[in-house]
Amino acid sequence: MSPPSTLGNDKPESGAGENYADINWDDLGFSLVPTDYMYVMKCAKGDKFSQGSLVPFGNIQISPSAGILNYGQGLFEGLKAYRTEDGRLLLFRPAENAQRMKRGADRLCMPSPSNDQFVNAVKQTVLANKRWVPPPGRGSLYIRPLLMGTGAMLGLGPSPEYTFLIYCSPVGSYHKGVLNFKVEDKLYRAISGNGGTGSIKSVTNYAPVYAAMTDAKANGFSDVLFLDSATGKYIEEATACNLFVVKGNTIFTPEIDGTILPGITRKSIIEIATDMGYQVMEGAVSVEQMLGADEMFCTGTAVVVNPVASVTYKETRVDYKTAGPEILSAKLRTTLVGLQTGCIEDKKSWTVRID
Ligand code: COI
Repeated sequence: MSPPSTLGNDKPESGAGENYADINWDDLGFSLVPTDYMYVMKCAKGDKFSQGSLVPFGNIQISPSAGILNYGQGLFEGLKAYRTEDGRLLLFRPAENAQRMKRGADRLCMPSPSNDQFVNAVKQTVLANKRWVPPPGRGSLYIRPLLMGTGAMLGLGPSPEYTFLIYCSPVGSYHKGVLNFKVEDKLYRAISGNGGTGSIKSVTNYAPVYAAMTDAKANGFSDVLFLDSATGKYIEEATACNLFVVKGNTIFTPEIDGTILPGITRKSIIEIATDMGYQVMEGAVSVEQMLGADEMFCTGTAVVVNPVASVTYKETRVDYKTAGPEILSAKLRTTLVGLQTGCIEDKKSWTVRID
């Protein structure tokens, strides 16, 4: 579906690379740059999503008694579109995001768009905002799908109406400078085990990290690393990324146990590292194991793959190597980004072309 013709002046030109938004692409960080269009699709409780449309990006009207505002019935996703050197637009594994949203929707009693609806809506949103996809090598278009209970209600229960909405923003790097993590040993991100909601991208999983994150930043750290809530002995994830530690030729990462987010970058990095001949162990990773590691890095859609320079646990600080030819995270990042941006041939069919 094309963007509404009444907005013709804002409509991005067709043809990749022909027309760019008038912004300084070198200034991009990870903050909202409003684009031209967003995608909206609604459905009533008990129905299926059927027909959505592109509308100008802007504020939405919502009842003060909407389920998302009162009871947190909402999910989000994050994925990126890249512009290749030869002018193609590529998504990275968008069906994985669609499936993760479906799993979250089942957990939160919401209808969800089908895989095809999700991926088509993402494609439409990117095409309508094509002029905001950064030039090759200067960033990406971050795409933020939301699924939320938007119907008016008062008593506790699934919302009478749902909205699937996608907006996007050009972005650069998520983290600025080197990463110095503080291990949080009093507050937890999610309850441990399979019964909780730590493994879905519920909107309610994110504000609970603010207190620890704000405190850590006030004390000069870049981010916080959370431990499991059952024992406080094992690492789980940081505020917005999965964690990996490296010892010799083996890479350790917390397993998907219902508590941590099953990251799509995490999953891709495990496969890339295995292909490179490294052994990847998914399981419980203790604080001691992390403190004794040779290298540590984090992964996420926003974060990509970033080396961790130091971790501080109570009074102990450990520094890791972040530069040099032997640094594994740099090799993994180069391969991942090469695939995402079309510089490396995609033999795994992970990228999806938008045209
Ligand atoms: C992402 O990496 O896409 C995320 O959802 C992290 C977000 C909290 C910025």
